[in-house]
Amino acid sequence: MEHRGLLDIENLSVRYPEGETVLHDVSLHIHSGQIVCVIGESGCGKSTLLNAILRMPGRVDITGGSVLYKGDDIISYPPEKLRKIRGAGIGMVFQEPGASLDPIRKIGVQFYETLRAHEKTSRRKANSKARELFRRLNLPDGERILNSCPVQLSGGMNQRVAIALAMALHPDVLLADEPTSALDVTVQAQIVDELLRLRDEFGTAILLVTHNIGVVAKMADKIAVMYGGEVVEFGLRKSVLESPMHPYTRALISAIPRLDGTAPIGIAGQKPERVSKVGCAFAPRCKYANEQCATRKMKQIPIKDGHWTLCAAGLKGGESN
Ligand SMILES: Nc1ncnc2c1ncn2[C@@H]1O[C@H](COP(=O)(O)OP(=O)(O)OP(=O)(O)O)[C@@H](O)[C@H]1O
Ligand SMILES: [Mg+2]
Repeated sequence: MEHRGLLDIENLSVRYPEGETVLHDVSLHIHSGQIVCVIGESGCGKSTLLNAILRMPGRVDITGGSVLYKGDDIISYPPEKLRKIRGAGIGMVFQEPGASLDPIRKIGVQFYETLRAHEKTSRRKANSKARELFRRLNLPDGERILNSCPVQLSGGMNQRVAIALAMALHPDVLLADEPTSALDVTVQAQIVDELLRLRDEFGTAILLVTHNIGVVAKMADKIAVMYGGEVVEFGLRKSVLESPMHPYTRALISAIPRLDGTAPIGIAGQKPERVSKVGCAFAPRCKYANEQCATRKMKQIPIKDGHWTLCAAGLKGGESN
């Protein structure tokens, strides 16, 4: 296969039971040690994409496509086999910091049990590993945290505990859904440094969802821009940030005051009420849209160095398809 990576998401389509299709034909290829940031406004399907990869929290229907981990389609795996990959193969930090933690069991116990499921360890070793990670993630007083239950800690503290738990297993791939959203700027910077260090030391590939363009600018090797359940543009960080092609990406990026700041990503107007595989989902909000946009078949337009877009309307020499 042309793009074979560590994690190959191929034409993935997903719906929620009794719901409409939320992801349409999403393809992404993530290589070892690579950081891919997923951006796009609320409701475009970022969390659904991450949750679908490991079929977590478990209630999504995969209606098409495949997810290859080291070349093996894990979508077809039975739950027990999938469970073996979770954690040390593919780790996950949920958007809701509580989701990976049992709210009423001591964090020390949860840490020990998670580590023990993957490697031989003692309670003392697990505690010391946890304390070291807590310290690096700006959680002082590790002993108190280990002896607390998540319900006794703030959202921001639980978020860091969840990150520590995922990092402790040095996964091949880390799926991180807005891992810094509940944290103040200084702490965010520290988390970013630790995620980069995880990548540098262990070659962990990271698929990172963030609303924070400062985080994208600091971390991303590649950027995937999502809109209405599709990836509409993909490419190297510099290429996408400096030469955005898709009218949606351009609107998104021009709405950001400074690239080195911590401004959130977002543009004015309504998100799509209905997403459909036919035509361009962004057309109702696009100032370059014409009659054909609602029905045309969208296909990738290659730009350079792997950068592609589904549309380049409104650019000099640009095209829509
Ligand atoms: N459990 C669910 N059941 C039915 N529909 C859902 C469920 N979770 C999400 N959706 C719908 O799927 C679409 C994508 O939601 P998703 O949570 O993936 O977006 P997101 O990009 O992560 O947004 P945010 O930035 O707010 O986290 C939305 O239209 C949402 O309403
Ligand atoms: Mg989300």
